[in-house]
Amino acid sequence: MTELDGSPVGAGEVDAGAFDRWWDELAPIGRAGSGGYRRFAWTHEDATLREWFVGAATSLGLDVAGDRAGNLWAWWGDPDAHGDEPRGRGVVIGSHLDSVPDGGAFDGPLGVVSGLLAVQALQDRGFQPARPVGVACFGDEEGARFGIACAGSRLLTGALSPDRARSLRDAEGTSMAEAMTAAGFEPGGLGRDDEALGRIGTFVELHVEQGKGLVNTDSAVAVGSGIWPHGRWRVELVGRADHAGTTHLADRKDPMLDLARLVTGARAAAERHDAVATVGKVAVLPNGVNAIPSHVTAWLDCRADEEAAVRGVLADLREFGPAEESWTDRTSFHPALQNELVRLLGAPVLATGAGHDAGILAQAGIPASMLFVRNPTGVSHSPDELAERDDCLAGVAALTRVVEHLAGRP
Ligand code: GLV
Ligand code: MN
Ligand code: MN
Repeated sequence: MTELDGSPVGAGEVDAGAFDRWWDELAPIGRAGSGGYRRFAWTHEDATLREWFVGAATSLGLDVAGDRAGNLWAWWGDPDAHGDEPRGRGVVIGSHLDSVPDGGAFDGPLGVVSGLLAVQALQDRGFQPARPVGVACFGDEEGARFGIACAGSRLLTGALSPDRARSLRDAEGTSMAEAMTAAGFEPGGLGRDDEALGRIGTFVELHVEQGKGLVNTDSAVAVGSGIWPHGRWRVELVGRADHAGTTHLADRKDPMLDLARLVTGARAAAERHDAVATVGKVAVLPNGVNAIPSHVTAWLDCRADEEAAVRGVLADLREFGPAEESWTDRTSFHPALQNELVRLLGAPVLATGAGHDAGILAQAGIPASMLFVRNPTGVSHSPDELAERDDCLAGVAALTRVVEHLAGRP
């Protein structure tokens, strides 16, 4: 490990004013009545967030480029200067700006804002990177609109095929291709982008912690060790539409009863297999208060420390015919990089049940890791998601040290 020149970057060197300013600029974009955020891929809100990213990155003198997968990259230094020499590839940080329905302010944006602030802190101290430094803004991380999480990074690495992506449809029936076109992005060129991938030597994603792993510890920041195996399944429950007042109970074919069995069955199976299972989204037809539904579509999310546990839950629910929409294997972040970050920061190590673009890049063989910033309640994917300002600034300082360390040597 290369020793750092000079004193380590401390929270005092982070531009807290810039943090507040950028955070305030983002605060109204996509804000919902719940106080949470509705920032879905390829919408007007998404375009506003992308414009914000380009503006903030440009204000630091970074060069912003898109890729074939709908992600944005802001570069400090020439990302192609390494030629075919892997040792000179970029140190990339960043995260995403989209959200789940009524999501919190921190999931994603904290990593993007921290990435920009880390670059700014290093520029301010006159640091000359020996390798290019990139801040990534991944598209459609949550998959809230089209159903596939980490769609931008999966397209980038080829884990999601362009044909499948283009044909995904949102709840209104708009395809991803149509939504991209409406947003001014040409979907015909969508696909794995070897040029963009070849620029990434190392990826470190800072993210709000989404559990209670750092609560009641004296650490504001942890290093990520890995991501649980996880997936999403769709269940179609077919009934027969009829009148709510005149149809005898014995004559009904009510798919809501099957939904109830699915929900309680998933919960019981998760308890049996030491997994977590969630039915968080349903679509009911015709969705009338005085009509027995004709059809219910439900989506199941299931995760566990062990793949066998997830498979056990799904086996217990086989009568519902769950159709896999996405699957992510267990991800272990790069062990040497993890150890390096732990030594550098003196931070604890945490695994997570949440999916991240860092995991998709790691699956594609890119040395990747994560930093988690303490969440005092553990609540996430909710308007109540929180990270204290001081902890956010400590996270930026940690990320700055990481970039200084990784980019300070060829
Ligand atoms: C993304 O946040 C996920 O884990 O679903
Ligand atoms: Mn999320
Ligand atoms: Mn996230």
